[in-house]
Amino acid sequence: MAETNLSIDDFIVPLFVRDGISEPEPISSMPGVVRFPVEYLPKVVQSHVELGLKQFILFGVPSYKDDIASSAYARDGVIQRSLRLLKETFGESVLLYADECTDEYTSHGHCGIVKRQEKGYRVDNDESLKVHATIALSQAEAGADVVAPSSMMDGVVGAIRKALDENGFQETLIMAYSAKYASSFYSPFRDAAFSRPAFGDRRSYQMDPRNSSEALREVELDIEEGADIVMVKPAHTYLDVLRRVKESFPEYPLAAYHVSGEYSLLKAAALNGWIDEKSAVLEVTTAIRRAGADLIITYYAEQLAKWLREGVPF
Ligand code: PBG
Repeated sequence: MAETNLSIDDFIVPLFVRDGISEPEPISSMPGVVRFPVEYLPKVVQSHVELGLKQFILFGVPSYKDDIASSAYARDGVIQRSLRLLKETFGESVLLYADECTDEYTSHGHCGIVKRQEKGYRVDNDESLKVHATIALSQAEAGADVVAPSSMMDGVVGAIRKALDENGFQETLIMAYSAKYASSFYSPFRDAAFSRPAFGDRRSYQMDPRNSSEALREVELDIEEGADIVMVKPAHTYLDVLRRVKESFPEYPLAAYHVSGEYSLLKAAALNGWIDEKSAVLEVTTAIRRAGADLIITYYAEQLAKWLREGVPF
């Protein structure tokens, strides 16, 4: 009589790829998660494929940063090389998502182009759209099946859809980080990707945690602009938003991002022996599905795949 079930097909595996390293590097605030060198990817993806996992989202740590994120759209950039290598190796048997943003690739660490003003700085929304479209196009050219804009710039989905369509990538999908909250739970990710903003914060473009009707407006706009998959992020702390989005837009695939800080909370408690990791992670992940998510981006994907094979306690 169970109304909700987890399946390996629900999971998207996040992978960090770093330029210029020769061995995997552990991330101290995310025990169990590492940054990989590009050359390791075929082996890593193969071991996931053997568990039944087929969907991967790539995050890049480039060899250099500047003010315009040029390492995010370079032909030989870390993500472009990774995508090409994985598509050559696995072809259509894997679905590759490319996170599309500038924060890991800019010296200031913001999700767009920063302009100096009389008083301090601001992220220039419309100026940023060009660079986001350029990055997305270079990812599609390198083999991304899905580009995933995570900047929350207004109009970014439409700008990317237009650039893709005009250049022969009508079939490349867009997964929009539609309702992405300005959350403290991204902190370990910013260690992992070296993307902590050098000044200011992201509250001028990410969402206010007090709002949920606004999330519906953000999702609606992204759908109008051409999003194929919409997302709520974080997941565990925003189950109510997931439910509202699913009820308002039932015909669209809904992704939930179980983010770095949500992972690390569970991991830390498990490492201390304060919770049983398997049952706690299965319960949280099931709750995200029950709230309405069709797809879950989770650092626990590999572990979940193994647990599902062993058989779950409920
Ligand atoms: C931005 C991006 C972020 C995450 C995914 N894409 C970070 C941010 O807004 O600072 C966070 C993911 C996580 O915490 O696991 N490129």
